[in-house]
Amino acid sequence: MKVIILRGLPGSGKSSYVRRLRQENVGCQVVVVSSDYFFEEEGEYNFDPSKLGEAHGKCLVCFIHEIERRFDRKDFILVVDNTNVTLVEMAPYVAISQAYGLELHIVDCKCSITNSVKRNTHGVPESTVFKMAELWQGDNEFPSYWPKPLVFETD
Ligand SMILES: Nc1ncnc2c1ncn2[C@@H]1O[C@H](COP(=O)(O)OP(=O)(O)O)[C@@H](O)[C@H]1O
Ligand SMILES: [Mg+2]
Repeated sequence: MKVIILRGLPGSGKSSYVRRLRQENVGCQVVVVSSDYFFEEEGEYNFDPSKLGEAHGKCLVCFIHEIERRFDRKDFILVVDNTNVTLVEMAPYVAISQAYGLELHIVDCKCSITNSVKRNTHGVPESTVFKMAELWQGDNEFPSYWPKPLVFETD
């Protein structure tokens, strides 16, 4: 199994990256975990900030579950589709991947704040996007034993 951890502001192209990954890896099973799934019900997105802890917890449980079931499957790509603005949000996923000795890639979907505001499909307000951009931690803050991110420019 290979793990890909995505990072990027809302609307930066993370889910589009997953679609492309699927097209380019026919024959591989691409499984995605995301804290957003918690807020999706029958095609509707109902965000509730008071449930963010639960949403992230569920996402991490799904990640662990997939790894425990299939870490030895060569034809399996496990993707974390979260904004991962700060390193503490990513750290559990990196640590677990490294604990299992899995091939790990971090993909940074980069776009301007303007495009993030324009394109994000979940109606994240401009002020929130600006706050997220301000909190963003670059790879210069990664621990030395984390892989450098691959940058995917989407502007
Ligand atoms: N490289 C790109 N160029 C232009 N539009 C893009 C690009 N990547 C994604 N988009 C568009 O931006 C919107 C949000 O993309 P999405 O992949 O859902 O972002 P995220 O999952 O990061 O929130 C979609 O309408 C998508 O078609
Ligand atoms: Mg998305």
